[in-house]
Amino acid sequence: MGFPKNRMRRLRSSPSMRRLVRQTSVSVDDLVYPLFVREGEDIKAPIKSMTGCYHFSPDTIATEAAEVTSLGIPAVLLFGLPGRKDEIGSEAWAENGVVQRAIREIKQAAPELLVVTDVCLCEFTSHGHCGVIKACPERSRENGKIDNDPTCELLAKTALSHAQAGADIVAPSDMMDGRVRYIREALEENGFENVAIMSYAAKYASAFYGPFRDAAESVPAFGDRRAYQMDPPNADEAMAEIALDIEEGADIVMVKPALAYLDIIYRARQRFDCPIAAYNVSGEYMMVNAAGVEGLVDTEAIMMEILTSIKRAGADIVITYFAKELAKLLS
Ligand code: PBG
Repeated sequence: MGFPKNRMRRLRSSPSMRRLVRQTSVSVDDLVYPLFVREGEDIKAPIKSMTGCYHFSPDTIATEAAEVTSLGIPAVLLFGLPGRKDEIGSEAWAENGVVQRAIREIKQAAPELLVVTDVCLCEFTSHGHCGVIKACPERSRENGKIDNDPTCELLAKTALSHAQAGADIVAPSDMMDGRVRYIREALEENGFENVAIMSYAAKYASAFYGPFRDAAESVPAFGDRRAYQMDPPNADEAMAEIALDIEEGADIVMVKPALAYLDIIYRARQRFDCPIAAYNVSGEYMMVNAAGVEGLVDTEAIMMEILTSIKRAGADIVITYFAKELAKLLS
């Protein structure tokens, strides 16, 4: 049975009518704004590969956090670029590491702003991989692969150090097996049961991360991340990854990237009850910006349409470099 004649036209007849029947809206309440903090002082340097994004030093990030708060954005996601890298990424859990200092600065300047921290080793290791590299002489095939369990222990140490510095949410983005459980246990054992875990549960090995790797200086020195990130053609596996992370203690699960994976967001929404975050990643952001600069598309309109589609697919939270722009547009 079809709709009675002209119903659709009546329902679209004016801005107010459209507003009244609208099902999806993007609100500033849903946004998380990523920030890059690097070792140094008095730095606010534009990131070449990512228009409108900057590298901040811990002392300048407070001002940025205050601005983000004044725009009504509830949360930031912190990425760190350390002054020193090594084989195991030990600056990642240093008490006075760049992320830990930034967290303290932000919490002092904007206590109500939620600080989410990316928990991963790739920005901190000299080889740029997300964990420690296995060296096992007896099985040469295994050489150069990530050693899963020792990596999980270091990730848990990193997450704990973020919690100790004042992080509200820790977000493991490494995709090692079992790392959510290691992190949950470390938090519980040390009295941080109120710190939430937002896991990058379904994270695909994607070319959409290109501009970010440049910004975070985390291009792998050899190989790629396909041994630990998901294979783009697979969907059922994403449901299994998400189920596992929830079972291990994740409070919020993430699908990443967002745009080419709207079906994954949708399926996760149908299946799981916990909040779902979607990461509108650097490549998605820069494709829009680049097309805008060329005068091919209306950047603002495209941004709205993309963010709306991510919400419509079922995401509750959208992590996006557009957050400030969107907040200004909505206010
Ligand atoms: C680190 C990490 C990456 C991104 C977020 N955390 C890069 C990667 O996995 O290679 C990508 C974010 C973006 O592209 O905006 N593991």
